[in-house]
Amino acid sequence: MQRRHVLALGTLAATGAVAATARQAAAADETPAAPPPEHLHQQAASAGPVVDPDVESFTVRMPVPRVLRPTRVHGDHDYYEHDLRPADVDILPGRKTAALTYGGSFIAPTIRVKAGRRAKIKFTNRLAEPANVHLHGGHVAPDSDGYPMDPIAPGASRVYDYPNRQAATTLWYHDHTHHMEAEHVYRGMHGFYLIESDAEKRMGLPSDEYDVPIMIRDVAFDADGQIAFELGNDPDVTRLVPLANGKVRPFFPVAARRYRLRILNASNHRRIHLTLGAPMTQIGSDGGLLPRPVPLSELVLSPAERADVVVDFRGRAVGTQLVLDSKDLGPILRFDVTRRAHDTSRVPPVLRAMPPLAPAVREREIVLDLGPEQRSFVIDGKVFDPDRVDAVVTRGTTEIWTIKNATTVFGPVDHVFHMHLVQFRVLDRDGAPPPPGETGYKDTVFIPGSTSVRVEATFADFVGRYVYHCHMMEHASIFGMMAQMEIVP
Ligand code: C2O
Ligand code: CU
Ligand code: CU
Repeated sequence: MQRRHVLALGTLAATGAVAATARQAAAADETPAAPPPEHLHQQAASAGPVVDPDVESFTVRMPVPRVLRPTRVHGDHDYYEHDLRPADVDILPGRKTAALTYGGSFIAPTIRVKAGRRAKIKFTNRLAEPANVHLHGGHVAPDSDGYPMDPIAPGASRVYDYPNRQAATTLWYHDHTHHMEAEHVYRGMHGFYLIESDAEKRMGLPSDEYDVPIMIRDVAFDADGQIAFELGNDPDVTRLVPLANGKVRPFFPVAARRYRLRILNASNHRRIHLTLGAPMTQIGSDGGLLPRPVPLSELVLSPAERADVVVDFRGRAVGTQLVLDSKDLGPILRFDVTRRAHDTSRVPPVLRAMPPLAPAVREREIVLDLGPEQRSFVIDGKVFDPDRVDAVVTRGTTEIWTIKNATTVFGPVDHVFHMHLVQFRVLDRDGAPPPPGETGYKDTVFIPGSTSVRVEATFADFVGRYVYHCHMMEHASIFGMMAQMEIVP
């Protein structure tokens, strides 16, 4: 399957679809596209072949992204100010790397909110090009969703309104500018957005400094230590450097106790298989807590998926080192047990009561495939057209979508299906019950080539247009694998 995937992407690259870069595509569209910013030009000019930066493992401490503080708190509203800006960041030891960021750091500041409190975040775009903000997994109105055709112009500001009327969970925010999202996110426009609740607090799970978001992703560098965003090759072959919270194979000092790790795979394209020489228990997924804890021997995350995992370092002697390893990118991160600790946290045997599935009023089939000319990836035979509505959904109703990944002329090609607006439930995979890690709410789901997955979603509250797409970012951003639904009253 891996081999065939390479072939399919290679074919896309060879047809010239790739040579017409996203930037040109953006310029050719009606999309408000600015001239390419100077610093990206320079990067493009210097970008030689991808090189191995040869960073010595476990010499840099993994940072925990700082938490963005509200500038004003009023009633049940929290007001924030944030920005989009270019920044020279410290990814590689001893050199600066140009990045596109939220708030100036390669991993954006974490936004931690409380369920039921509304967050109004004023984002100012200090980049030289249009860009926006999508709250991935957020239940928000269309004008706060970071719709691809709805960027913030350079120099302008925009208030995004996040109601946070949804379960406590691990979300993330990232750029979603039409044709540019793959490159923007790859260059650093990504951060955590955590929704917390009192109910979850009372459960006694590890909290505060023992609740750590970890963004894992791959990247490629050129000889100058700059991020190489290459389109001509299979990204799984070129993007070989693992990053944990923006550092190459860092270490992270821990106490000999339980930790809650909120792990996000923010890679554009790569699926990651993680192992650790300590017990891992999955307690949550994209949409918050699972019904029950799930012991894991391996944690597999597709792009944009999150897993909330409790890792138990109790009983480990000070000095113990445990490597979070992957078969895809090698070692990712080392946990160093540096101190003993008193631990009163717990993992309750039942985490969440799942309501019975609502009766569905409509069933649809969504087909993912290679485009007819093998120049694109398509949903139901078509590339994204912002002027076309692909599914009309009645507000408040429940639907079952069968997402079918067709067998292409090159064989099976994997995709990752993501829907905006809703958290859905996975009903089955090719008729079989979903694995325990997929029994909670999800917004992103892996669809292996030549298989189908059925999901059920209730489209409550908002009307308007929302996209659904493959979350292998280049597939959606550059090759067209995106469609849209319109929720109507
Ligand atoms: Cu994470 Cu449409 O995106
Ligand atoms: Cu999303
Ligand atoms: Cu895809």
